[in-house]
This record gives sequence, C-alpha cells and structure tokens, in this order.
Amino acid sequence: MKLFLIVLILLVAIQSGYFKGLKEEFTWSRIRFASSPSGFHQNNAFGGNRGVSFQPPSSDPRQSYIFENNIPMGANRWENKLFITIPRRRLGVPSTLNFIWTNTTDKHNIPLIPYPNAEVNQLPSPGGNGLLVSVYRTAIDTCNRLWMVDTGMLEYPGNNTRVHQSALVIIDLLTNQIIRRYEFKPTDTRPATNLASLVVDVEPHSCENAYAYIPDLGGFGLVVYSFAENDSWRVNHNYFYLESLAGEFFIGGIRFQWNDGVFSVALSDIFPNGHRTVYFHSMAGTHMYSVSTKVLRNQTLATRSYHGNDFKIEADRGLGSQASASDLHKTSGLLFFGLVNQNGLGCWNTFRPARLDNFDVVYKSDDKFIYPCDVKISGDDLIVLTNTMPVFLYGRLNYNQINFRIWINNVYDTVKGTRCVVDPHEEYTGDIIYGESSWHY
Ligand SMILES: *[C@@H]1O[C@H](CO)[C@@H](O)[C@H](O)[C@H]1NC(C)=O
Ligand SMILES: *[C@@H]1O[C@H](CO)[C@@H](O)[C@H](O)[C@H]1NC(C)=O
Ligand SMILES: *[C@@H]1O[C@H](CO)[C@@H](O)[C@H](O)[C@H]1NC(C)=O
Ligand SMILES: *[C@@H]1O[C@H](CO)[C@@H](O)[C@H](O)[C@H]1NC(C)=O
Repeated sequence: MKLFLIVLILLVAIQSGYFKGLKEEFTWSRIRFASSPSGFHQNNAFGGNRGVSFQPPSSDPRQSYIFENNIPMGANRWENKLFITIPRRRLGVPSTLNFIWTNTTDKHNIPLIPYPNAEVNQLPSPGGNGLLVSVYRTAIDTCNRLWMVDTGMLEYPGNNTRVHQSALVIIDLLTNQIIRRYEFKPTDTRPATNLASLVVDVEPHSCENAYAYIPDLGGFGLVVYSFAENDSWRVNHNYFYLESLAGEFFIGGIRFQWNDGVFSVALSDIFPNGHRTVYFHSMAGTHMYSVSTKVLRNQTLATRSYHGNDFKIEADRGLGSQASASDLHKTSGLLFFGLVNQNGLGCWNTFRPARLDNFDVVYKSDDKFIYPCDVKISGDDLIVLTNTMPVFLYGRLNYNQINFRIWINNVYDTVKGTRCVVDPHEEYTGDIIYGESSWHY
C-alpha cells in the first residue's frame, strides 16, 4: 500500500514536471580516491607546484587507504565542485577535504579528489604536523570562500591523538589558496569540545565583516569568530546542552544512546534591524531555539554570564524528532533539518509561526535515507548527504551495496505538497503520506 502510494506520487510528480522530495544525485558503495587527478597539482595551496603525487596506499599507516574507514560526513557545493569531507575517525583516511566535479555523467562511485591538493591533506605533512588533519563539514560564503574547522584530532578509537590545536581554516575558492588559519584559544574550547559544523554570517557587500558561528556539540557551547577582528569568543547557555530525555536513537535497526548537544546552526536573512536570527538545536533533543546575531556578534553581550531573555525557545518538535544538520533557504524562509530517528528530512517555513502544524517531513526512506548527516542550501538547491553512520559505528556496512548518497533538489520543488509549501495558494496534499502519527511515533 505504502509502495503503491509512493509510486503514485512519483507518477504525479513526473507528470506535473517537477520532482517532489529529494532525488539521489551521487551514490557510493565505498569511497575511492583519484590517484592522479589532472589539475590538482597546479592548484597548490601555497601557490607552487611541489610535484607531490598522490599515491595511496603509502607506508605510513595514518596515510594509507582503508576503504572501510572512509565515511563521508559533509557535502557542500560551489559552482561545479561538490566538496566531500571525511573526518579522520579511523586509520586509513588519505585525505579529509575533497571534491568531485558535479558536471559529470558518471554518478556512482566517483573517486574523490583531494582539495586544494593532496599535500595539504597529507599526514604527516612534509612540514611534519599535518595541515588539514580532520574536517567534518564546511561552509561556503557569498565571497567565494570555503570555511571549515580542522579539529586537529585523530579520533582513533582508544587512541585519540591531538596533532595540533583545532583551527578555523578559510580557503579562497577562486585561487585555491588557504587565506587564513586561526587556532582557537584555550578559552574557546573544553576538554570534550567537538567542532563539527559551522555557518558563516557575511554582511552584504563587505566580505571583511564576516562571522563564523561554530556549535560545540561535545562541550555544549558556541564559538564565535570575527574575521575582521581575527578574534574568537565562547558563548555559554543551557540551551546548548543535550536534553537528557531525548538521547535514545533507533537508526538502521540499531538502538543506542547519544549525548550530542548543540549540533547545527542555521541563519535567517537579514532583518531591517540589520541582524539575523540564528536557529539551533541539539542532536539529543527535540527543541528548536533561536538567538539574534546581534547578541552573538557583540562579544560583551555574547559572553555575559546571565543572558536574560536573549535566547528563545521556538518549538518542541516532539517525540522522535531528533535532528542532525540543518540549513535555511533565506529567500523562502525554508528551514530543513535531518530527522535522524525517522530516516527523513524535516522542514519548517520560518516565515510562519513555529507551530507543529507548520512542520512537515519532505522525504523519508528507511532503506535509502539512513542518517542524514549534512544538509546544505546552495543557491536554490537543497543538498543532503546520507551516510548510514550508525550501522558503520555499531553494526557492519555492506560495501557491496550503496551506503553513501548525495541528494539534490530545488528547494521549492522539495516542499511541494507539504505543510512547508511556499506558495500559499498551492494545495496542501501532505496528509496522504505524513499524518500526525508519522511525526510523533
Ligand atoms: C567540469 O567543469 C570543469 C570546470 O568548469 C571543467 O574543467 C571540466 O572539464 C568539466 N568536466 C566535464 C566532464 O565536463
Ligand atoms: C596512537 O596513534 C599514534 C598517532 O597516530 C601512533 O603514533 C601510536 O602508535 C598509536 N598508539 C597505539 C597504541 O595504537
Ligand atoms: C589571526 O590571529 C592568529 C592567532 O592569534 C594569528 O596567528 C594570525 O596571524 C592572525 N591573522 C591575521 C590575518 O591577522
Ligand atoms: C555591545 O553591547 C554592549 C552592551 O549592550 C553595548 O554597550 C555596546 O555598545 C555593544 N557594542 C557594539 C559594538 O555594538
């Protein structure tokens, strides 16, 4: 019956010329790397061609390639490049920051190309320390810059090794040069700190006036970096913590408990007062909160010990609605978030009240959409990476089937027929698939 409905909906979608929900764009059963991609030597981060060739496996065990340990965690797009990040949480990850060309006809098992080159990703680096050690996710700003946190940490089970202090790294996408590397101050972090995502807030027409907001999911805080001041500060608030009753997960047939706090932040467009709203949530949690950039950008306000009513509760999405990554399409106000416990992608049009009947699920698949790990808006497109991670961590991935998928669709098409639909005249048809009962399970 369910299958019949899905087929029916697909037929309707095809006939009316758009594709609802999400569609698979790139898939992998296992991650491979391009051994000699043409072009990436010329684009050396240091401006020169040192002629270092990329030839996994190498004799250094940290450098060698073990395909089972390469789990992509981040996906983001700029022009024809789709960036794919692989944090070093196991041995055998040859390169943490990579890309593929989007303009290929090949869509399956495309080898990743190290970015900006293999040398920057090499461990240990020719200089000895490793330049990019481990990157979870990236952000791309309107000034053609790629931002990321290099955690500086090899998170090998039972053998966590800090290679260097965690640092914010910014690469100019037009020149492929690292234009800034900023090591966080000891006061920015905590022993359990994990900086796995970030969002960039840029003033229009002023690339210098940029801020990065970096959730600390392990240390339960938020780090703010000011590009103009080249300085950072830490924001503390109880809303950044896990919610103790929401730590139960059941994903890919596996039950487990997680304690991840603030996991993702998403930015609204600029309001007439010159500020944006920052929406955030914990992974082990069901609430959505917000704070103004007016607070975060002002170091005095951001770090005051009592925050008054600066922080707001937007909504409790309810049982089973734990969310991973999120992003907001600024023109339409559409906020998307990965519903990890439902193998789905949730939406809320932030131009409408944060009531549950304005939330919906745009896509859901218990087979194909296991663990939406990254959610990004790129232009008018929505990009989601699903990577089956809980099965990798606690079970066993079958590397002969597809484990990693990148889904892309136009944001307006994605929400058609859901409660998030942008055009108010359009008919809401979502009841067919998603009733209240599927939201609260
Ligand atoms: C994809 O685009 C890049 C840059 O625009 C170009 O160099 C490359 O040749 C293109 N590849 C294909 C297969 O069209
Ligand atoms: C732990 O990791 C470090 C760095 O990768 C390595 O030098 C060391 O041999 C490892 N220790 C164990 C017990 O595996
Ligand atoms: C920014 O600050 C860091 C650390 O304080 C320093 O190493 C770096 O040179 C500074 N960069 C710029 C562009 O001022
Ligand atoms: C930051 O906030 C403080 C306290 O409200 C205020 O006095 C100060 O002017 C603000 N700074 C800026 C740069 O807006």
